Amino acid sequence: MQAFAQAQPNIALIKYWGKRDLELNLPAVGSISVTLDTLWTRTQVVFLDDAEEDLLILNGEPAAAEQQRRVSAYLDLMRAKAGVQTRARVDTENNFPTAAGLASSASGFAALTVASAEALGLALPPGELCELARQGSGSAPRSLFGGFVEMSRGRLDDGSDAVAHQILSPEEWPLEVVVALTSLSPKSVGSTAGMHRSQESSPFYEGWTRTADADLGEARVALASKDFDRLANVSEFSCLKMHAVALASRPPLIYWNPATLQALERVRQLRREGVPVFFTIDAGPQVKAISAPGYGGVVAKALGELDGVQDVTTSGLGPGARLIGS
Ligand code: PMV
Repeated sequence: MQAFAQAQPNIALIKYWGKRDLELNLPAVGSISVTLDTLWTRTQVVFLDDAEEDLLILNGEPAAAEQQRRVSAYLDLMRAKAGVQTRARVDTENNFPTAAGLASSASGFAALTVASAEALGLALPPGELCELARQGSGSAPRSLFGGFVEMSRGRLDDGSDAVAHQILSPEEWPLEVVVALTSLSPKSVGSTAGMHRSQESSPFYEGWTRTADADLGEARVALASKDFDRLANVSEFSCLKMHAVALASRPPLIYWNPATLQALERVRQLRREGVPVFFTIDAGPQVKAISAPGYGGVVAKALGELDGVQDVTTSGLGPGARLIGS
C-alpha cells in the first residue's frame, strides 16, 4: 500500500479567481495554464496498518498543523473511495519554495492524488482524479496534465463537469517560462482567503466572472493557431484583471512588491524590443515570464540583472503528474 509520484506546478495564463461552491471547491471561472518541467513536487504515500494518525513530512520536517489537517482531510476522501480507514505517512519534497506564489499546492495535490490512488489500488479515470485533486486545491487538476491545460468551470452542482484536459502537448508548442523570484517569504493572504475576500467585497468581481468566458475563448483560438501575440495579450489582460479585482477588495489584496513591478516593466520593454515574451503574476509577488521557444535565456538574463530579483529559474513545459516508483 505505497506509491511514489511526481507532479510539476502549473502557471495560469487565464486565471482562476473565485469559487462557485465552497464545499466542493468549484471554480467560478474556467482557466488555462501551462505545466512546467524543471520545478517539481515528489510525494511518497505509505498506508500503515498500525498508524494512529496521518503524518505529513514536508521537505524532511513534520509539516505545520494546518497543512497536516488539509492533507488528512484530503486522504479521508481517498479512504472513502477505497472503503478503508488506514492512516498514511506522506513524505513530500519540493525543489522550489513552498507557498511563495509558485503553486506548490497544485503540484502537491496532483502528486498526492496520483500516489494515494495507486497506493490504495484505485484505478480511477481522469475525470475522477480531477474531482479529487480539485478538492485539495482548485488549480491541482491542471497539474494532472502536461503542456497547455484547460480547467472547466462546469455547470453541474455536483462538480463532475469541473474537470481539466490537455489542449496542446509540451512538444506541440514548447514555450519557455522564467520565474523571477522577488521574495522568498510565504505570501500574506493565501488564494482561498483572497478569493473569498474578493468575492465578498470587490466591486469588480461581477465583471470578472462575466468576462471570463471571452478570455478563455480568445486563448483557445490563440493556442489553436499558435499565435504568440494573441496569447500574450489575452494572458496579460487576464492577469491584470485578476489583480484589479484583488486590489479593489476590502481590505485590499496587494500581492506585488516594488521588484514585481520592476520585472513586469522589464518584460514589457523586452517585448517592445522584439523579444516574444509576456508576464503573468499569481497571488504572490513572483513574476513569471513566458517566452517563445529559444528566448528563455535572454529573458532570464534580463530579469536576473534587476536589483530586486533574488533568483531566476527557467523551465520548459513538462508532462502531467505520474508515478515514479513505489
Ligand atoms: O488553486 P489555488 O487555490 O492555489 O488558486 C490558484 C489561484 C491563482 O494562482 C492566483 C490563479 C490560478 O489560476 O492558478
